[in-house]
Amino acid sequence: MTARLEITTNRGLEDLVVEELRRLAAAAGVPGVRGEHRPHGLAGWAAVEADATPEVLAALALRLRSAHHVVRPVHAFTLAAPDSRDALAQIQAEVAALDVPELAPDHVSFRATSTRTGQHPFSSEDVARVAGAGVRDRAWRAVSLKAYDVELRVDVRDDRCTVGVQLTREALSRRRTGPYLPHMTLQGNVAWALLHLARPEPAGPPRELLDPFCGGGTLLLEAKARWPGVRVAGGDTSEGSVSGALANLAAAGHTGDVRVGDAREADRVWAGRRFDTVVSNPPFGKRIGPNMSFTKLFGELFAALPAITTPDARVSLLVYKRGAFNQALREHPAFTVRHARVVELGGLHPVIIVLDRVG
Ligand SMILES: C[S@@+](CC[C@H](N)C(=O)[O-])C[C@H]1O[C@@H](n2cnc3c(N)ncnc32)[C@H](O)[C@@H]1O
Repeated sequence: MTARLEITTNRGLEDLVVEELRRLAAAAGVPGVRGEHRPHGLAGWAAVEADATPEVLAALALRLRSAHHVVRPVHAFTLAAPDSRDALAQIQAEVAALDVPELAPDHVSFRATSTRTGQHPFSSEDVARVAGAGVRDRAWRAVSLKAYDVELRVDVRDDRCTVGVQLTREALSRRRTGPYLPHMTLQGNVAWALLHLARPEPAGPPRELLDPFCGGGTLLLEAKARWPGVRVAGGDTSEGSVSGALANLAAAGHTGDVRVGDAREADRVWAGRRFDTVVSNPPFGKRIGPNMSFTKLFGELFAALPAITTPDARVSLLVYKRGAFNQALREHPAFTVRHARVVELGGLHPVIIVLDRVG
């Protein structure tokens, strides 16, 4: 028996989803997982197949830390007239013809949702509406936007339409981080990617990890979830963030050394400590302070890190200001780029940059 699932993530992280699922499958004794990044060219999607039951593959996929949603594909077709509103009638008819086992019981309620990319004379709301009508053309089912049993996803990319049952209700990347949830909280799966790329397997787990701009501690929590034995430390100039990060760690049953401190003075704040891994999501907005440039911020961070890191340390950062970052890096040859990849995040395109300490 072959099962197939399609999985959403941020653009730029698709290969990590496949890699993580392979690792989960191998650990669970499920052999032969095949994966595809960007099936049909769809950015932000990965597809996986395994010689397993759909339930077994779904149980593995629902444990992914790198993904947002898991979808069981039901149908895919080409729109005959993607540049006309006639496409909506085709979508309704195709959905009405589908046999979706999840929608078979009389009492189930459902909702239809859609994402759409490309040039079309209709919106994603139009697609969701006609898909919902298609389900009800086949058999009356209650529509409920909040208290639904089944979510049918109908996604349109240019002239291609895919239909699937979404197995995740909330995005897997929306972690319950604890009582403190500031607006700049990093998506859980991007935090996972920053950590994973700093220490990809088979590199051993980190022992001492620092986030010098820790905010609510998302990266510290994610690090503890991935490597329970790691000792985590975090710094932030905001007292509210420091107490929030400590509260979040405590709520998850973890401890960490979290201090009020300026990352530009990390050598003083963390004097005597030696970190083998530094992972962070530095500030990127306007509020970094008067007379402060991003080149200076990164430069002072690079100048401070050698005193508090091990000679083989890795530094993994989510960088929005790439020009400033590169300029600071040129001036601090103690670090070289090991890996860089662009990720789509909230409509912006920051880069995950992993550095090796070389001096
Ligand atoms: C993008 S947020 C980090 C968010 C964090 N990853 C989370 O998910 O909660 C950047 C953080 O850097 C802090 N910050 C700004 N300038 C700083 C500095 N010079 N040293 C240390 N922290 C600083 C801000 O207070 C903010 O909490």
